[in-house]
Amino acid sequence: MRLVTCSGAFLALATLAPAVNALPSFGWGQNQPREDAVTAYGGNDISKLAKYLPSSNLPKPDGLELKFVGLGIGTQNYTCNGDKSAAPGTTGALATLYDMGSGLANDPMAAWKLASVTGLALSLYNYHESLMWYLNSQGYQDVLGHHFFTPGTPSSVPTFLISKIQQNPPVAYVAKKDNVTAPAWAFKGLSGEGAIPWLRLVDNGKSSGGVNTVYRVETAGGNATPNCENRPAHWEVPYAAQYWVYGPKS
Ligand SMILES: *[C@@H]1O[C@H](CO)[C@@H](O)[C@H](O)[C@H]1NC(C)=O
Ligand SMILES: *[C@@H]1O[C@H](CO)[C@@H](O)[C@H](O)[C@H]1NC(C)=O
Repeated sequence: MRLVTCSGAFLALATLAPAVNALPSFGWGQNQPREDAVTAYGGNDISKLAKYLPSSNLPKPDGLELKFVGLGIGTQNYTCNGDKSAAPGTTGALATLYDMGSGLANDPMAAWKLASVTGLALSLYNYHESLMWYLNSQGYQDVLGHHFFTPGTPSSVPTFLISKIQQNPPVAYVAKKDNVTAPAWAFKGLSGEGAIPWLRLVDNGKSSGGVNTVYRVETAGGNATPNCENRPAHWEVPYAAQYWVYGPKS
């Protein structure tokens, strides 16, 4: 692997490694990026999707260029400390990012498909073969990268590693800047827990590879329970979301 040429990504991968065993069964390793897939981002195809960023009250990505659109499927992680009435704490998230952008960029139905992808994907969360069939049928099966949290002080850092780009993979280290409640029609999740908020996440100064802003939109599921009643010390809630990744105009 040429990743060692990029110390940031190498660090990120090293961080990810211990978590890999715990990935949901459809994750890492089963859909290695195709060699030729990298060229999908050589042109400007993805720019055709830019106008379809799901609309919300989040500030617009003015002056930025759309680089990648990932379908994140994984878990939001929560903690409880024994106080039943306390609200759960958040410890991060772990998700495989499937490459939605390549498939949709040339799909005349893109605008109509976007709103249903995450709900469908999360519905199939416990049915691995069905999920993979769905992703394949839409051309979303290639792994774009991974979303995880990099340990840091004072708190761990939301991280997006675009491993599909094999030479100097882009890495976004971001902080939450804006949030809005998910729309009422969002899929509320496998236990009806509710969809996590939509977010605008912005570079914390350490990103590399031409990415600096990530929108988490079209969320499905992933919310914590309102309190820690009957909750263990660590627990995960399956979720899906679209991650729209932007960077400065190239
Ligand atoms: C989140 O949960 C997953 C699955 O149990 C685990 O592998 C991962 O390490 C957890 N990540 C964090 C930041 O807690
Ligand atoms: C947005 O973030 C603020 C500050 O963290 C929080 O108080 C608020 O509840 C959040 N709103 C939503 C909709 O998540």
